[in-house]
Amino acid sequence: MTPAADDTDARISAFIRDPYPTLARIRAAAAVSALEYENGLPAWILTRYHDVAAALKDPRFGQDVRRTQAIADRRARGVTLGSDVVHMLNSDPPDHTRLRRLIQSVFTRRRVETMRPMVRRVAGDLLDGLRPRERFDVVLDFAFPLPIMIICTLLGFPPEDRHSYRAWSTAILTHGGDTSFEEATTEMNDYLRELMAARRAAPKDDILTELVRACDRRELTEQEVFSMVFLLLIGGHETTVNLLGTATLALLHHPDQLAWLRAHPEAMPMAVDEFLRYESPVSMATLRFTKEPVTVDGVEIPADELVLVSLGAANRDPDRFPEPDRLILERNDPGHLAFGQGLHRCLGAFLGKLESEVALCGLLDRFPHIEPAADEKTLPWRNTIMLRGLESLPVSVHG
Ligand code: HEM
Repeated sequence: MTPAADDTDARISAFIRDPYPTLARIRAAAAVSALEYENGLPAWILTRYHDVAAALKDPRFGQDVRRTQAIADRRARGVTLGSDVVHMLNSDPPDHTRLRRLIQSVFTRRRVETMRPMVRRVAGDLLDGLRPRERFDVVLDFAFPLPIMIICTLLGFPPEDRHSYRAWSTAILTHGGDTSFEEATTEMNDYLRELMAARRAAPKDDILTELVRACDRRELTEQEVFSMVFLLLIGGHETTVNLLGTATLALLHHPDQLAWLRAHPEAMPMAVDEFLRYESPVSMATLRFTKEPVTVDGVEIPADELVLVSLGAANRDPDRFPEPDRLILERNDPGHLAFGQGLHRCLGAFLGKLESEVALCGLLDRFPHIEPAADEKTLPWRNTIMLRGLESLPVSVHG
């Protein structure tokens, strides 16, 4: 490796460990900055709260992955943006509207509230399993199985296959892990085809059965069923896993805040909003492109340009949040952008919040003393600039 490559690698790993100083510099320097995305692909980045919030609601920024891929192909070689997995999050209306409408009734506040006993049961069972241990991994043993078991229950998927779902999502989202992007999509599609056939033969009360019926009514194609399930599996676990891991780490770093939260468990919903602001699990929204020239804070971004929208930077903008780099559980400001905004605002926001509240309440309640069991500098982070989360968080518990 050349010294220059060495230096770049060191900078990337420093950014993955702590992106906030770099994001703060970019945000302070200009409203819109140019950067290189993967493989030298030129893109723009928005980091200021008001610009990010406005862009998320602005229909002049498109998300259709086929167009994004076409723009990328004209500018750089070998950038794969997942254009063979088209789902609501990487589509524009009218496809987005049709796909979201098919599924949105499952995730309303009222429907999600009826899931509370199921979420409590899953969290309780996992915590029971951890209770006899003096040391465990908050991410691997708790934060990962919890949301994936819940989304599997809703979809009607065997939770025991969860390690395959994780391997596929790692390969597809980060192009990392032991499985290649192509292998992961093929394996996942074969797996889904079998499950769909099983539901046709014996329908159940789950999302997969609903999607198979909608497919048979020709309201969506088989490929769209695959992509929808993929999105729900990924959206349904990657994000909440990240939040539970970073929230626990933040509490371990802030003993005063941890003590306050233990004394005020009823404040957990407000605390979860602060965890979402402080360490936004989706650090960068899905890649956007400009459908026409767009002026942001006096800077014109021409048409057909790729744009990164940094939710993590917006949520730490000092012009919106006083003392943004401090975790203040009593902040009581749900105005963060961790769930996005506008058309693509997170469909699973109520579920993600419910899972996080139940999980963190359960963890603090069962374990009155939690301490880090690894040196913080050695903690592995998810190797992507799009998501912010820990791979592992060993803790020791007693009392
Ligand atoms: C703490 C947990 C979660 C966070 C922080 C989160 C964050 C987000 C964000 C930021 C977006 C919009 C991205 C963009 O505009 O580019 C999004 C979209 C989405 N999320 Fe979540 N999410 C969470 C949990 C969930 C869960 C549990 C589900 C499961 C059902 C889910 C399903 C979705 C779907 C389907 C979309 C696409 C919506 C659309 O395009 O209309 N999310 N999420």
